[in-house]
Amino acid sequence: MRKTIYWIEGDGIGPDVWKAARPVIDAAVRHAYGEERALEWKELLAGEKALKETGTLLPDDTLEALRHAELAIKGPLGTPVGTGFRSLNVTLRQTLDLYACIRPIRAFPGIASPVKHPERVNMIVFRENTEDVYAGIEYEAGTPEAKRLVAFLRDELGADVNAAAAVGIKPMTERASKRLTRAAIRHALEHGLPSVTLVHKGNIMKYTEGAFRRYGYDVAATEFADRTVTEADLRAGKANAAGKVIVRDRIADAMFQEALLHPETYSVLATPNLNGDYLSDALAAQVGGLGLAPGVNRSDTLAFFEATHGTAPNLAGTDRANPGSLILCGALMLEHMGWNEAANRLNNAMNTILAAGSLTEDLAAQTAGARTVGCTEFGELVQQAL
Ligand code: NAI
Repeated sequence: MRKTIYWIEGDGIGPDVWKAARPVIDAAVRHAYGEERALEWKELLAGEKALKETGTLLPDDTLEALRHAELAIKGPLGTPVGTGFRSLNVTLRQTLDLYACIRPIRAFPGIASPVKHPERVNMIVFRENTEDVYAGIEYEAGTPEAKRLVAFLRDELGADVNAAAAVGIKPMTERASKRLTRAAIRHALEHGLPSVTLVHKGNIMKYTEGAFRRYGYDVAATEFADRTVTEADLRAGKANAAGKVIVRDRIADAMFQEALLHPETYSVLATPNLNGDYLSDALAAQVGGLGLAPGVNRSDTLAFFEATHGTAPNLAGTDRANPGSLILCGALMLEHMGWNEAANRLNNAMNTILAAGSLTEDLAAQTAGARTVGCTEFGELVQQAL
């Protein structure tokens, strides 16, 4: 069996981490299945490489291939700050309707962490990916658009907005909130996970974040009634948790505390866009693995895996970058495909090498007794440990 994987090299350290990661991913498949299964890699252009070869950052051919693809994986793409240029990542997510950004977070043996018990963290964040303040509807202070919008808010709706304000809009819909929570609950059920926690700021933003919470409970009650139970019903003694996924909610600020104080209580988190952005990075940092975190953006047809770090331009071409995030993206992708034997081998090999203290400089710098290895050598070591 051969599976087509579309891949985007990415900018900055993209070429470095791919050179180390791809042979390891292929080797994991070979070790698990011999010649019976293989990945067929097809490159798509995006970012600086696309600009150089085609004159555009995101060629139509790339989007067209992705529209019909099932599996894709990308390195980091650069985004200039504060210019009119829209992020390529955001454009890809919106154009392809990649509505769920999914990031598993667990501790790795041997990786230094700022908390005492990183091993208690084992969560997976489902972050809504298409709306909220990320929708890009924002007007700069003093522009005719901002002035018109502020005048409308003041004059027509009686809102107390400073006339000199910049304004951003936070659209959130029932459809997007529900499909995100649906995906999170399905994941919990399919993987036998104990709970789904809706993370929101509904106490302050009642009709956006508050509605996200309500829609989440609606989905649980109407679509998964016999397989979920709410924490409120459990506490009231009205229900039994046996064999069911517990659905609960937490206000986002309290969730950050909970993640530090009682991480073992939480499993799947379902969040609107911005909360999920903050939370997934904070959780990854909590286990010391920000540079190791894998992620996937999903639509109903495409699973688009991505290394979650940026382009690290200072390390580009120096063989010093950490390819771990991309390797773990490979493991996540193999798991998603149901190629579990290969995924397990890859995860175990990563654990072995990290625990042995052979680390790229970003991790070695914070780990006593570590041996610093380059990007290529790290990949080779993981391959030997498969
Ligand atoms: P960054 O993740 O590139 O760098 C932050 C720090 O982490 C730097 O010190 C860097 O050297 C280090 N670092 C990152 N990845 C590493 C790796 N694999 N191995 C070793 N060290 C690593 O974030 P920054 O500087 O904020 O962004 C740089 C560019 O990347 C920007 O244009 C940004 O928009 C883009 N970016 C792209 C992302 C994506 O494509 N998914 C995600 C985040 C940023």
